Amino acid sequence: MTSTSDDAARMAAKLVADGKGILAADETVPTLTRRFDTFGIESTEQSRRTYREMLFTSPGAAEFVSGIIMQDETIRQRSSGGPPLAEVLSGQGIVPGIKVDTGAKPLAGAAGETVSEGLDGLRDRLSEYGAMGARFAKWRAVIHIAEALPSRACVGANAHALARYAALCQEQHFVPIVEPEVLMDGSHTIERCEAVTGEVLQAVFDALFEQHVSLEVMLLKPNMVIAGKECARQASVEEIATATLRCLRRHVPPAVPGIVFLSGGQDDRAATAHLNAINRLPGPKPRKISFSYGRALQDSALEAWLGRDENLKAGQQAIHQRARCNSAASLGRYTDEMETRLTTGSPPHRSGWRDD
Ligand code: 13P
Repeated sequence: MTSTSDDAARMAAKLVADGKGILAADETVPTLTRRFDTFGIESTEQSRRTYREMLFTSPGAAEFVSGIIMQDETIRQRSSGGPPLAEVLSGQGIVPGIKVDTGAKPLAGAAGETVSEGLDGLRDRLSEYGAMGARFAKWRAVIHIAEALPSRACVGANAHALARYAALCQEQHFVPIVEPEVLMDGSHTIERCEAVTGEVLQAVFDALFEQHVSLEVMLLKPNMVIAGKECARQASVEEIATATLRCLRRHVPPAVPGIVFLSGGQDDRAATAHLNAINRLPGPKPRKISFSYGRALQDSALEAWLGRDENLKAGQQAIHQRARCNSAASLGRYTDEMETRLTTGSPPHRSGWRDD
């Protein structure tokens, strides 16, 4: 590896340093607006900035969070104090990251399936984001499970796009986060999820190899292996952990320095418990296994904030609590006693939409 790729490899290692994970705060404007709507919060450039700034400046965040993924609007915004939000992050020792796919679009010839777009002009966009301080990037591919899905066409097209993206990132000295998400939507069993996740990961790593991507300088952001939300038999925490780790051992080369899960619509505490159980399983784990959660880190903070200035501190306490618990889970040290929030069940916004 050259010295610049050594720098990028160091950055990848920093993102999965002991007890640290990533906050995905990269919802596009329409997705964040839908979340705000659930709580009657008006979505304006200003309110979205206030929300992001609340998350980014939660006191002590850097203890548990290594990097934060932004999207285009956010990386261009300035904090209320003046400096750009990206600078506010790096000032706290948090690495700024950027989502660079432009969304999952219908895949021609494959009804009900999508391919994530955004390769055109990506080299120039990465260079622009690099000048704004971003050091790592994210690209999300979306795979649906249904009776006859996913199709080979969909898996192949998404794997190819992920690999082309990752190669461009490495050329531009970014650490790529490669995110093939097999959705929890549907009534499929955990066994089906494991089979599909395995096939998808296999296709992704074949494509990464073909595009000359250095596995040492990337992170994988997969789904956990979990039954579909409508499946009559929901698996236990132990079953989910065992199936997830087995699938990753079989299909992810050990050269990859870190796996950072997405939460995918799991209840926030369940996402923490699953991460903890995975890290507590015996047997070889050749790399760090941590989190890159969006909803599972943010939901309670959004609910506490409700768009009101007087709740900013409560919002920051809420995200701090989730980050602290997930940090412990990344080390296999999470316990129920760490939970101080008194809630029963999941509020309605917990399950559902993410269309970017
Ligand atoms: P969730 O944790 O809400 O699934 O989001 C993670 C993410 O970055 C999806 O692209």
